[in-house]
Amino acid sequence: MTLQAGAAPHADARQWVVLKFGGTSVASRARWDTIAALAAARRGAGQRVLVVVSALAGVTNALQALVEPGGDVPAQVQALRQRHLAAATELGVDGDAALGMHFDTLQALLRDPRAATRALAWQAELLALGELMSSALGHAYLSMALPIGWCDAREWLQATPLPHQTEWAARLSASCALAADREWRARFDALGDLLITQGFIARAADGGTALLGRGGSDTSAACFGALLRASCVEIWTDVPGMFSANPRRVPEARLLTNIDYDEAQEIATTGAKVLHPRCIAPCREARVPIRICDTAHPDLPGTRIGAAAGGAPGVKAISTRRGLVLVSMESVGMWQQVGFLADVFEQFKRHGLSVDMIGSSETNVTVSLDPSDNLVSSNVLEALCTDLAQVCRVRVIAPCSAVTLVGRGMRSMLHRLSDVLAEFGRERVHLISQSSNDLNLTFVVDEDLADEMLPRLHELLIEAGAMAVHEGEVFGPSWRALAASAPEIAAPWWRARADLLLAEAARGTPCYVYDLATVRARAAALSALPALDRCLYALKANPQPALLRALHALGFGMECVSAGELAHAFDSIRDLDPARVLFTPSFAPRAEYADALQRGVWVTLDSAWPLRQWPELFRGRALWLRVDPGFGRGHHEKVRTGGRGAKFGLAVADLPEFLALARALDVRIHGLHAHLGSGIGDPAHWGEVLLQLASLAERIGTVVALDLGGGIGVPADPAQAPFDLAALGTRLAELKSAYPHYALWMEPGRFLAAEAGVLLLAATQVVAKEGVLRIGVDGGMNALLRPALYNAWHEIVNLTRIDEAPALLADVVGPVCESGDVLGRRRRLPQTAEGDVLLVANAGAYGAVMASTYNLRALPREVVLDD
Ligand code: LLP
Repeated sequence: MTLQAGAAPHADARQWVVLKFGGTSVASRARWDTIAALAAARRGAGQRVLVVVSALAGVTNALQALVEPGGDVPAQVQALRQRHLAAATELGVDGDAALGMHFDTLQALLRDPRAATRALAWQAELLALGELMSSALGHAYLSMALPIGWCDAREWLQATPLPHQTEWAARLSASCALAADREWRARFDALGDLLITQGFIARAADGGTALLGRGGSDTSAACFGALLRASCVEIWTDVPGMFSANPRRVPEARLLTNIDYDEAQEIATTGAKVLHPRCIAPCREARVPIRICDTAHPDLPGTRIGAAAGGAPGVKAISTRRGLVLVSMESVGMWQQVGFLADVFEQFKRHGLSVDMIGSSETNVTVSLDPSDNLVSSNVLEALCTDLAQVCRVRVIAPCSAVTLVGRGMRSMLHRLSDVLAEFGRERVHLISQSSNDLNLTFVVDEDLADEMLPRLHELLIEAGAMAVHEGEVFGPSWRALAASAPEIAAPWWRARADLLLAEAARGTPCYVYDLATVRARAAALSALPALDRCLYALKANPQPALLRALHALGFGMECVSAGELAHAFDSIRDLDPARVLFTPSFAPRAEYADALQRGVWVTLDSAWPLRQWPELFRGRALWLRVDPGFGRGHHEKVRTGGRGAKFGLAVADLPEFLALARALDVRIHGLHAHLGSGIGDPAHWGEVLLQLASLAERIGTVVALDLGGGIGVPADPAQAPFDLAALGTRLAELKSAYPHYALWMEPGRFLAAEAGVLLLAATQVVAKEGVLRIGVDGGMNALLRPALYNAWHEIVNLTRIDEAPALLADVVGPVCESGDVLGRRRRLPQTAEGDVLLVANAGAYGAVMASTYNLRALPREVVLDD
């Protein structure tokens, strides 16, 4: 039955409006109440309403995990079931009644003979369950207040095969037919005037299920909008809309309130992740406007995407894409040689690589490969280069970033771009590409440069006032202004303590200052999450004894990675209980394990080597095991600690061998541990880790605790939204209800310490050289290594002149004899004089502890404030 409940069919001329809600927008009762209110309001305004929903956040990944072989299927299924039943309980609906049919389908699919071969059609049916279940839950909840019907999107959206489409794409990344006849519309209208359906799924040509690929729910909404000739497709998400640049990098980025389809397409394709690029075309064809709206702030204007509004040409947005690979091909024999390009591109085709941009001259052709379209592994590249070497000299330039200026009428803008070109002139530009649609001008530069240049380019092109013509009409408020109106963003502690810090700096710089109140506030917030049974502090982030004692007093255990850290923890905290200490070394020598065991702390192994080589050390003990579920995350490649490229953790495939060794030695696995990287902003990460660990734990049988690692991100810029601790708490609580038998541990470092610390430096010299102004300070990469090592961004202010307006644009550099000794590039600072105190913020974690005496400079002083 297509229509499960609903208003009586009636033929009227009211237009449809399509409202689409993503995974986080359907993950709690409060969010469903927002959906109900929006649907009721649109209906009250005389529109027919179609609500399109994604699966609950994280569920598609959990279903995908069932597709991958090797998982603990019963445990994974149980977790999925619990997740949905917990959601049903929260909504006050009968979970078994609403979802029983889908649970049965899940079981049947797992028994299905097609499961053995992971048949594509089978995968599609399995993955479709996420949306089927969320829409069923939503329907049950909304129908308590509204006369809403449920419909199966597969009855209405038909996937159409495209020429040259792979079987995989035809089934799992399909496109939909967009021609609807009057009869289709009349049948749909007859369903009622308020309906809920699924995103992501459609009917395949063979009658089975097809999926619409990544971002498929946006595409579903767009297809429904086009087929129904809707008045609007509203995409409800957790950001206010599209911005003129990535607001995480440029807090001054402006909300784009009005753009046309083609501009939106360029922005979506060249960087911004707000809207999936595939969802724009259906609406453009049908001339249906799209609105991006923020579920948390429905009062904001959002971004409206519609037909070209005319108006003056101009740059509307600057987007960046990281991870590009350039292949530069040099040939002297190319001049006037017929077929050279054909030969070259044949090789790309043979290796399955799709080329994005091309630059060519008589002797050189350079092309870019975009990792989001390609599986650009080093093996593939190597093979390609070997083949290309037959016809030309090849050079791979990677990693690169593309910086794209987007806006209508780019050609007529070229003469205004001289400042931009001057800016690029300082850096290496590998490729420039201007599209003939007059919407896009792209520069390809070394990867890290793009993010660094973005604020300056934004200032030149968007803030400079040259675009004033679009003020109001196109550009809404800045991200910073929107963030400032959000109450949760408080001023950092050091602003109120400038005088005290200046006095401290007068006693000697470089100097780190830590505010214990901030450490305590972060610790209290984290340990208040009910799902966490134990919090540890990863003391590698900042081993200041006062910090350790403050955290210990709040009930934190300690996570240590070396015998030195263990000794330091026990020296610093007199009554430290060894049972609250976890030792998680990496490739440590035998003696360090022996030391840890002797101290009676929990010891973590992360490979079978220690058991095999030093069996007597571990015989009969209870241990922790660190695993690598196969992926890593984090703010920089160097801090991602999972996946094949990382040295940490036991691969899941090696678990049986490890367990056999452990059994032979009577070793009991007490806890499972995974730390997959540092500086992770997405709270869903730890839910994923928990699911992975729990399913392994079920296989092992003896496990009583799961340590989800550290890694909680801290935004570099104060205008960025803080880490969503509440979302982490909710997710962990949901999953804990599925796995109540495991104690949950976490062991962050950065989250507790970073914002509590600042580095104070004194200005030494202010020098201009060939148009670049540099402010020298008395500590650089020797005092704070993070900018040089990870390109990390730290806010830098002139504390001596904290209330003065910025007057300079300067690089802040240290005294070390290396060109990487730059703490911040292109910073806006007031006029600065020798002796001024510069403050580097968010330096409490991985600051002093990573400092060195390189160039034989003294280590920074450290001061702790505790009042
Ligand atoms: N647990 C283990 C096993 C770890 O290796 C780490 C950090 C943590 C916990 C704490 O991670 P956190 O919560 O601080 O992200 N120096 C780099 C960070 C390196 C992190 C190393 N491991 C930086 O400055 O960004």
